[in-house]
Amino acid sequence: MNINSLVDTVRALFEGDRGLLAMDESNPTCNKRFEAAGILQSEENRREYREMIITTPGLDKFIGGVILYDETIRQATGNGTPFVQIIQEAGIIPGIKVDLGEEDLAAHPGEKITAGLDGLRERLADYSKMGARFAKWRSVITVAEFIPSRGCIEANMQTLARYAALCQEAGLVPIVEPEVLMEGTHSMDRCRDVTEEVLRTLFNELFRQGVILEGLILKPNMILPGLTCSHQQSVEVVAKATVHSLLKVVPAAVPAVAFLSGGQSGELVSERLNAMNLQFKGRLPWSLTFSFARAIQYPALEIWNGKESNVPAAQQALSHRAKCNWAARGGEYSKAIESNGSVTASGDGSL
Ligand code: G3H
Repeated sequence: MNINSLVDTVRALFEGDRGLLAMDESNPTCNKRFEAAGILQSEENRREYREMIITTPGLDKFIGGVILYDETIRQATGNGTPFVQIIQEAGIIPGIKVDLGEEDLAAHPGEKITAGLDGLRERLADYSKMGARFAKWRSVITVAEFIPSRGCIEANMQTLARYAALCQEAGLVPIVEPEVLMEGTHSMDRCRDVTEEVLRTLFNELFRQGVILEGLILKPNMILPGLTCSHQQSVEVVAKATVHSLLKVVPAAVPAVAFLSGGQSGELVSERLNAMNLQFKGRLPWSLTFSFARAIQYPALEIWNGKESNVPAAQQALSHRAKCNWAARGGEYSKAIESNGSVTASGDGSL
């Protein structure tokens, strides 16, 4: 394993305050998003949609890496140029989702385990040859009255650690994504307790499996009340709770914490990321950045709507959300940048 090369990849992914764009929806998930937007679900439409994303002008200023799906990493533009080549030539690093989704965890009603370890060494070697330099694996933890169980947390965190060790062996930076789901009526305190337990378990397992923390990226949820909790919290409270939890459980050797959006709206998640970076500027051991899917791709998906004539407007919308999050990473997001795209070093967003 070449640790320096892993460290270099992480640095390149996030330099210039850039973040990650997750465009790694599996075919069923992408089809679900298409269905909701009234777009025909077909391989060609998925290809055209992903081509629209990766050919967005100037995306490399805000996005350092894109996470692809198995179908997407093998695809090419309408004129036959491989997607990976387009991405690399744009100055963006290609990555790949390598988990195979969730299945029921035996003997644990209502809980899931992520599949995909079998044959992973060989798949990582193939993806590396195709140009991927980092990978992603998502584990999901559901919060309800009697769950998550220790059995579910331990099984998922050990799986994440074994995946991460295989990635580093193959020379790919692992993104480890233990997602405590937002769905539910639970309070923010409950989300905090579960998230801290999950992350503590994760870092124990990463240590046991010999994973080098300097060469990985953590992709956690923010500390939030459940989606249907009657008591929602302000941006500042969420920002503080999230950073305080991370400071307790994430070792300083980890270079980057890149949040998932988990179904938060584009504007709200930018505000929350911005508040963290603003309040804690210069006081954190890791960078706090983003690895969003829905929060960057919406509303571009709806504008695109499967029509070539809509590509420029959709690309503009995608670029706008990417820029808002890039600004939030530096604590410079504001209403002004949200409405007209302007940003200044002072963060007041005026021209
Ligand atoms: O695995 C989930 C994605 O990488 C992040 O998606 O930002 O829509 O939660 P999201």
